[in-house]
Amino acid sequence: GLPEFVKIVEVGPRDGLQNEKVIVPTDIKIEFINRLSQTGLSVIEVTSFVSPRWVPQMADHTEVMKGIHQYPGVRYPVLTPNLQGFHRAVAAGATEISVFGAASESFSKKNINCSIEESMGKFEEVVKSARHMNIPARGYVSCALGCPYEGIITPQKVTEVSKRLYSMGCYEISLGDTIGVGTPGSMKRMLESVMKEIPLGALAVHCHDTYGQALANILTALQMGINVVDSAVSGLGGCPYAKGASGNVATEDLIYMLNGLGLNTGVNLYKVMEAGDFICKAVNKTTNSKVAQASFRA
Ligand code: HMG
Ligand code: MG
Repeated sequence: GLPEFVKIVEVGPRDGLQNEKVIVPTDIKIEFINRLSQTGLSVIEVTSFVSPRWVPQMADHTEVMKGIHQYPGVRYPVLTPNLQGFHRAVAAGATEISVFGAASESFSKKNINCSIEESMGKFEEVVKSARHMNIPARGYVSCALGCPYEGIITPQKVTEVSKRLYSMGCYEISLGDTIGVGTPGSMKRMLESVMKEIPLGALAVHCHDTYGQALANILTALQMGINVVDSAVSGLGGCPYAKGASGNVATEDLIYMLNGLGLNTGVNLYKVMEAGDFICKAVNKTTNSKVAQASFRA
């Protein structure tokens, strides 16, 4: 059956902005995150401690991390691909981190410049250091429902990589449909495989909406008992190393669906829409959220 409470992991400031070509001013990012912090969200992914040569939009990671107001009851994870990123994140005040691997060999090479096997070695170092400092580590698995370079990815491969990340100490595994090609059918087959190896309570889904399947895929995951869902306000987002991939599922649309199902999130839809309106105006975009479009039209 459906879970009673769904934890939303807001990835807008990170996934949502990382693909924006025009550099968003640091103070706008900070205000965006501060606004999101007042919506009832309990997890907001802030930035990435990656190479500024690879992802210029995240070059101000330290300033953003130091600049935000950390509200009580809100957690502020950041992406750290290696020890160098981890140490910089900790120096900037991060108290939660995520490593990000992939179930596709080609995507791993394009995204983080190493093989899956090599990436596991780096993540192991990061997660071990994090554990020594009592810093919770989350693990992403990209290309869980398909790869922009290899096409089909088997549930077995997703399960294998997820298991590696879970075994090294990641408390939560976020299964990423990086290019939004999955359907409720492929989501169900993938989750059935992963759930044999990893406890349900340690799984999250991260759906991009490229093919318009994100909400259906999320509902499928909820029906299978998953209760952690990643989303980005206004449906911002995309990965610079997955060409053509569009935004994440919009947080507004996700909350609207969850509210309709009678599931509790603790998040105020109207306040999220206001934060979405703020960032869309700041980056001169129209929202990808159907719910925001419908509400602001009325
Ligand atoms: P590399 O070039 O292989 O790194 O990059 P290297 O270790 O060989 O070092 C080369 C240079 O990079 C050195 O500088 C290092 O200091 C520097 P130089 O001596 O030449 O001046 N460097 C760093 N600088 C800053 N921060 C660091 C860092 N590490 C090395 N952490 C690296 C490897 C991982 C750094 C690079 O490939 C990279 O930054 N990739 C980022 C990719 C990325 O951010 N992708 C988007 C996020 S993933 C995603 O969106 C998917 C997700 O949403 C889930 C889903 O949708 O599926 C999570
Ligand atoms: Mg993503």
